[in-house]
Amino acid sequence: MEYQNIIAEVKEQIFYITINRAEKLNALNKAVLQELASAISYASQSDEIRAVLITGAGEKAFVAGADIAEFQNYNLEEGKALAKDGQANVFDAIANCPKPVIAAVNGFALGGGLELAMACHIRIASENAKLGLPEVTLGLIPGYGGTQRLTELVGKGRAIEMITTADMITAQKAAEIGLVNEVVAQSELIEKAVSILNKIKLRAPLAITSALKSINAAGKENGFEIEIQEFANCFQTEDFKEGVSAFLEKRKAEFKGK
Ligand code: COA
Repeated sequence: MEYQNIIAEVKEQIFYITINRAEKLNALNKAVLQELASAISYASQSDEIRAVLITGAGEKAFVAGADIAEFQNYNLEEGKALAKDGQANVFDAIANCPKPVIAAVNGFALGGGLELAMACHIRIASENAKLGLPEVTLGLIPGYGGTQRLTELVGKGRAIEMITTADMITAQKAAEIGLVNEVVAQSELIEKAVSILNKIKLRAPLAITSALKSINAAGKENGFEIEIQEFANCFQTEDFKEGVSAFLEKRKAEFKGK
C-alpha cells in the first residue's frame, strides 16, 4: 500500500505497519495518525489479513510521542478535538480491531507512543526499550487513552507514579509490572512477535475476534453479558463444527474463518 509516513505491507497474512519517521523518533504527527487510521481500517476489513504487527523504523524509537511541534499553539477546543479524533480513529480502532494487533516496541515508547503500544493487544519489547508517559513535563496529561489503559495494565498506584513523576522505565521493569508481555534482544524482536502471531493464525479466526471483544469488555458493566453472547455466537460458526470434529477425529483443524 502507498503511504508516505508509514510502511504497510502484507506478508503471509500478517499486516506489518512500520511508523517511518526515524529522524523524529517516529513522533506521531497528523499525517502519521491519518495513515495509521487508514491502515487499521483496512486491516480490520481485509479478508487477507489475519493479524497486525506495529513497530517503529530504526533502532532507537518505537514512537517518542505525539509530535510536540504540532500542538504547541492549540487552545481548549483544538486540544479536545486532537484527543477525541485520535482516540476514535487510531487508538480505539486498534484496541477494537477484530484481528490481533501486536506492538513490537523497539526503543523509546513515550507519551502517545506508549499509548499506541497499550492500545495494541500484545506488547513485546526489545531490551533497549524505555517506556513512559512524560506529558506532565509539558504541562499536559496523556490524551490518547493513557490514563485509562496504563491503569488497566499496571494498576492505579503504579499508573499514578509513572504519570505524575513522568519517569521512564526500562523494558525489564515494564515486563515485571505487566506493561509488556516479554523482553527480547532487539535482533529477535520481530521474530518473537511474528512467532506469537503465527500461533494465533492457527486458531479459529472468529473465535479470536470473539475473545478479543470479550476481553476488551473486562471491567465494564456488561463484560460478562458480552462473553455469554460471544460464546453463543461461536456455536453458529463452521469453525466450531470443524474444531470439534477435528478433535474427535484426532486430526488437525482447518479453520476457514466462517
Ligand atoms: N515530537 C516532536 N519531535 C520529537 C519528539 C516528539 N515527541 N521526540 C523527539 N523528537 C525529535 C527531536 O526534536 C529531534 O528533532 P531534531 O533532530 O530536528 O532536533 C529528533 O526527534 C531526535 O530527538 P532528540 O531529542 O535529539 O534525541 P535524544 O536521543 O537526545 O532524546 C528523547 C530522545 C526521546 C529522550 C527525546 O527526544 C524526548 O524527550 N522526546 C520527547 C518525549 C515526549 O515528551 N513525548 C511525549 C509527547 S506528548
